[in-house]
Amino acid sequence: MQHARILLVEDEINMARTLAKILERKGYRVATASNGEEAVAHLKTERPDVIVTDLNMPVMDGMALLRHLRGPDDSDDGTRRLLTPPTVVLTGHGSTHAAVEAMKMGAYDYLVKPCNPDELLMTLDQILRVSQLERENERLRAEVARHQGFGEIIGHSAAMREVYTMIAAVAGNDSSILITGESGTGKELVARTIHDRSARAEQPFVAMNCGAVSDTLLDSQLFGHKRGAFTGAIAEHDGVFQAANGGSLFLDEIAEIPLALQPKFLRAIQEREVVPLGTHRPVSVDIRLIAVTNRDLEQEVSAGRFRSDLFYRLNVVHLELPPLRERREDVPALAQHYVARYADAFNVEPKIIDPEALDRLTGYDWPGNVRELQNVIERCFALAPAAHIDLASLPASVRSGPRPTSGMDFGEEVPSLAAMERELIVAALRKSAGNKNQAARALGIDRQRLYRKLEKYDLA
Ligand SMILES: Nc1ncnc2c1ncn2[C@@H]1O[C@H](COP(=O)(O)OP(=O)(O)OP(=O)(O)O)[C@@H](O)[C@H]1O
Ligand SMILES: [Mg+2]
Repeated sequence: MQHARILLVEDEINMARTLAKILERKGYRVATASNGEEAVAHLKTERPDVIVTDLNMPVMDGMALLRHLRGPDDSDDGTRRLLTPPTVVLTGHGSTHAAVEAMKMGAYDYLVKPCNPDELLMTLDQILRVSQLERENERLRAEVARHQGFGEIIGHSAAMREVYTMIAAVAGNDSSILITGESGTGKELVARTIHDRSARAEQPFVAMNCGAVSDTLLDSQLFGHKRGAFTGAIAEHDGVFQAANGGSLFLDEIAEIPLALQPKFLRAIQEREVVPLGTHRPVSVDIRLIAVTNRDLEQEVSAGRFRSDLFYRLNVVHLELPPLRERREDVPALAQHYVARYADAFNVEPKIIDPEALDRLTGYDWPGNVRELQNVIERCFALAPAAHIDLASLPASVRSGPRPTSGMDFGEEVPSLAAMERELIVAALRKSAGNKNQAARALGIDRQRLYRKLEKYDLA
């Protein structure tokens, strides 16, 4: 196999040079270590395809190296168990006993020194062919696992399979769909999947976040405007309804549409026509609407912030995406998926997830759901050169496992409610990087209320 990486562990410099030259001439990439300890250090960051090691070396000999690689894993960082490339040992003439011992320790093969170059090359070739087959098998297994999902959506939990059934059912028609679920549960991904599987797939998929636009601009962003319709309207503008004509319109944070604009919105989806600002001529639009919210719309309706007739229009088909903590069995497949993705993106070998780390990933509550999991795996690739993901490479929040429910300890003095409220608002704003919609949601209040509190506490 071209460009395979060989780690050559040999204390005699001349021997090491000769062997390296033979291997390099055949296109192998060779790294050398002059004893077992150097080899172990090398393995912390690199994953060679094969190790070729001498047995007699000072510091840490070949046997000790094998024991380290194949023995029970009592290293603090898990390198031993996880990094076990096939190993070929080089034994001195007349030490078959050592060779047999080495084979018992898990060596793949042994060669007697001074070794015949052809024999060495043949052995390596054979090992690499076998491990390539194994890798190919692994790839196929991953492929099969991936197809237990749906398109790009991963997960084969009962809850997700129900979602797939729904997607398949609605893809064939034009009904309006309401997708709900916590942040990062895949609402947008599901919406795109529905679009991609519908008859509108070749037409545009237009996405807009209603919470990211000020109330005054929302009208024109949705329905468009004529030139000169208001100060600053220097050119005619198609709203998203028109931009999505023929395709699907994906409206995120639908609960943020202010009451005043809701009748116009209702009319647009009911009549399938919009009236751009500054005109009186309705323009008809042919769209499939997919609306999203991570608020409880029914509660918004009973609180008088959302029109009930609009709610029923949107809620023809309701898809509720379960949070990740309610389908923990999907975590390993998702983690593997992101490992493969970031290995690709960072142009490195896929990392191996240490069983303990996987346990912790599966046990964690994932308030940010799949997006948070994705970030955690990306972080492992960005920060650690190691070939595996162990407990230490996980962020403290994930590593520390479940926390006791009330971590609050006020000591002598319990603070006033107002002081605590101010603290909570500051914390929510910090967490949302100043995004008031997000902060309000985290605090469980609406935007208007948050604004009033910002004024009250002089935080505006
Ligand atoms: N089941 C899944 N399989 C694969 N990837 C997923 C899955 N769910 C979510 N993702 C990925 O996680 C990220 C977040 O998903 P998405 O943007 O669809 O979430 P969302 O529910 O719209 O979140 P928010 O409410 O914060 O907007 C995306 O990168 C998406 O591809
Ligand atoms: Mg989203």
